[in-house]
Amino acid sequence: MIIKNIGVLAGIQPEGVLRLEGTEQGRTGVLEDAWLCIEDGRITGFGEMADLVGHDVIPGMASVIPGSDRESHVIPSEASVSPEEVIDAKGGMVIPGFCDSHTHIVYAGSREGEFLDKINGLSYEEIAARGGGILNSSDLLHETSEDDLLDQSVIRVQEMMSKGTVAMEIKSGYGLNPQDEMKMLRVIRRIKESVPACVRSTFLGAHAIGRGYSHKAYVQAVIDMIPEASAYADFVDVFCDEGFFTVEDTDRILSAAKGKLVPKIHANELAVSGGVQVGVKHGALSVDHLERTTDAEIAALKGSSTMPTMLPGSSFFLGLPYGRAKDYLKAGLGVALASDYNPGSSPSGDMRFVMALGCIRMRLTPLEAFNAVTLNSAYAMGISADYGSITVGKKAALILTEPRWNLTRLAYNYTTPFIRQVFF
Ligand code: NIG
Ligand code: FE
Repeated sequence: MIIKNIGVLAGIQPEGVLRLEGTEQGRTGVLEDAWLCIEDGRITGFGEMADLVGHDVIPGMASVIPGSDRESHVIPSEASVSPEEVIDAKGGMVIPGFCDSHTHIVYAGSREGEFLDKINGLSYEEIAARGGGILNSSDLLHETSEDDLLDQSVIRVQEMMSKGTVAMEIKSGYGLNPQDEMKMLRVIRRIKESVPACVRSTFLGAHAIGRGYSHKAYVQAVIDMIPEASAYADFVDVFCDEGFFTVEDTDRILSAAKGKLVPKIHANELAVSGGVQVGVKHGALSVDHLERTTDAEIAALKGSSTMPTMLPGSSFFLGLPYGRAKDYLKAGLGVALASDYNPGSSPSGDMRFVMALGCIRMRLTPLEAFNAVTLNSAYAMGISADYGSITVGKKAALILTEPRWNLTRLAYNYTTPFIRQVFF
């Protein structure tokens, strides 16, 4: 398949670049008036239209991969593919699809009642303390059959895909007992098997203390769930924050998961929790939230393989501070942005809105925000060898926009429909 007449092809990265850090996060390869070729679901080449139209196959001619000396690709002639395999982009932009490395989209029912409590002035912690919050979702999930939970959740997955998300991480964490946590992990697996988007699964048993357990007994119960959870999940997560799980709990849970599940940690949303440091200690792939961080967290992340991930949708919805993304970049770190799509703190999976918040509220440039919702968020779920950039060999998981779009406009006209087609 060839996509021709691409107005802007953006998000081009050389092979082997798995994340972008510091000043690099503000860079991307861009081609104007371009084509892109796909075979067996992977990108096999791209270049400028001037080299494509009316030419026959030119063997051995290098495709344009900025920063790469790899010369490999044959430029296909349009005549060598059948007409139904040629898509005319008509000047639309082609970019890698969004990667959303932090969601809780498997949940039952709705928490609209708490939305009203919030409008009337209650904080997230106050709502949780009244039996709302995560425990409310846990009760609803307990009463919902596995099939119904799947049906309700798939609607959200489809919504995300229609908005350009091609890869997503989904967490458990509304089960809070062995049966219901496994029910959630089975539902995530069934989503994985039934949608074209890439799905990664995280065991978040330690999201809140399950009903009927003491704190101590529940931490042990989570540890006991790890062997079974590791048959389903890719990652383990702990809500390491004030009023939820301590650094010591987190350390115990991550030690028990060592060699089975790679950590991705909820840290520093409600307080400076120590979650970043314990995550880095255990080689976490990402530490997420980070609304409240000091320079010590930035220092702890330096030189690590852990991706700091910020969730501006929950800062927006809960009225929390926004993460200090610019300071992380200045320190030479990379930053990923994700939606945190969940019923309590971020009821939206719109990654363009996330990108816009990154620009408007965190002062990221559109390019920095774009790399944060593509390559760096792919890294934060361990899939950046296959997703997150326009690179020969990667999955052709792409967004084709309507004409006259560019990366700056994506964040600027953040509610204007822009997608013509999403490729998985
Ligand atoms: O990432 N912070 C913890 N967990 C979710 C909220 C989940 C909920 O309120 O249902 C979050 O914000
Ligand atoms: Fe979350």
